[in-house]
Amino acid sequence: MQLPNLKEAKIRNKTKVRILTDLYRVPEELSKIGFGKTYFVKTYGCQMNEHDTENIKAILEELSYLPANDMENADLILLNTCAIRENAHNKVFGMIGRMKHLKEQRPNLILGICGCMAQEQSVVEEILQKYKHLDLVFGTHNIYNLPFLLEKVVQKKERQIEVESKEGDVIENIPVKRDSKYKAWINIMYGCDKFCTYCIVPYTRGKQRSRRKEDILKEISVLIKEGYKEITLLGQNVNAYGKDLDPDYTMADLLEEVAQMKIERIRFVTSHPWDFTDEMIAVIAKYPNIMPYIHLPLQSGSDRILKRMGRRYTKEEYITLYQKIKAAIPNCAITTDIIVGFPGETEEDFRETLDVVDVCKYDGAYTFIFSPREGTPAASMEDFISMDEKNQRLYRLNEKINTYSHEANEKYLDQVVPVLLEQISEKDENMLAGYTDTMKLVNVKADTKYIGTIVNVRIKKVKTWSLDGELEEVVVNC
Ligand code: 5AD
Ligand code: SF4
Repeated sequence: MQLPNLKEAKIRNKTKVRILTDLYRVPEELSKIGFGKTYFVKTYGCQMNEHDTENIKAILEELSYLPANDMENADLILLNTCAIRENAHNKVFGMIGRMKHLKEQRPNLILGICGCMAQEQSVVEEILQKYKHLDLVFGTHNIYNLPFLLEKVVQKKERQIEVESKEGDVIENIPVKRDSKYKAWINIMYGCDKFCTYCIVPYTRGKQRSRRKEDILKEISVLIKEGYKEITLLGQNVNAYGKDLDPDYTMADLLEEVAQMKIERIRFVTSHPWDFTDEMIAVIAKYPNIMPYIHLPLQSGSDRILKRMGRRYTKEEYITLYQKIKAAIPNCAITTDIIVGFPGETEEDFRETLDVVDVCKYDGAYTFIFSPREGTPAASMEDFISMDEKNQRLYRLNEKINTYSHEANEKYLDQVVPVLLEQISEKDENMLAGYTDTMKLVNVKADTKYIGTIVNVRIKKVKTWSLDGELEEVVVNC
């Protein structure tokens, strides 16, 4: 049993990142361990978790498990969890509680959790004490070892807990089963060294480790051959790419090299304003296949709160960066993340956040009430704001955000925009849904033969969170 350790997770040492290309393996005797059985993975949280789930599914299928249609009928259920806020955390514990009945009905069912909550010391301690029906807990750094963990759970009937806290490796050969045939996530780096004072991610995902550029480019060239239209370069803080590997080869260099590879659409998430260089802006502006869409988390508009958050930029520096991006890439859509009710946030601080929203008029924003995460510095800061006040601030902020979102969308009315059609629309089965280059969700009346193609769409109706459009004659790209 290897338990997570909060103290170890905080440590950053100078040990060189190891690139391990043969750590993952499935020995012959394990390749049929799931034969005749099914799996279900439920994913919570961010794109990083979504992509980890794609790895986990591929591993399970290499062990001969087949996907189950629903959780109730699966022989193996894994919850890939998120630790970023308390509500994600509570949802998972609610689900673990419900799974107890399934286990009582079917004692051979295997239940496991993985992801960021599995990296939390207090969570695993609670699981050990109270949730004896869980068979398997593994951390974000232990995915590669799933075949051997399952061997012990399935064949030896031993409960397995394996969570490493100190992590310095990049593991290259884990298989992937992508959810989409047209859009793909590509990790360019793992972990985060920023330690914003509210954030649990540097503890759950470990130190920043960039992948080698040749491994990234190789993965992309395979995707191009397979006909993928869009790739998203993924990391907690992609702009810092390379700093831990080769400081002379930056995110701007990587973006440029990827842009020259003739993939139709390139995106990247998430950007920290601190590492957003002029070179990056110039590269995004230069290449039409780098999408004019940037997610630029603000978190707060008050310098005092930004300092307490450990964000390392001021309101003015943020606005200057925003204006530089808009000047260089005029049609660029910009979205953000904002936290309200951070410990010590006064009405005056909050108004400064609203002021920045008035300047930046975001295309959209993810807004949150501060959620204390055990072990982070902000969790022990004195917090004198009532929940009622925090809710009101969130409401006031969302009203403003929605107004600007709607305004930004109105500019699209009667315009023709390129849309990558991905699937049948969730709101209307006669429509297809997809995203513009600027990441606006569009519903279009179109034949299913257009799924997986980039088409020109004329926008006919504007809503706060989506657009409705009609197919134009010309198909840009099939
Ligand atoms: N409380 C509230 N929001 C948080 N985020 C991260 N940590 C917390 C927290 N403790 C938000 C930030 C981040 C987004 C992914 O989640 O806005 O950008
Ligand atoms: Fe968390 Fe800050 Fe790192 Fe983003 S940059 S993952 S908010 S510590």
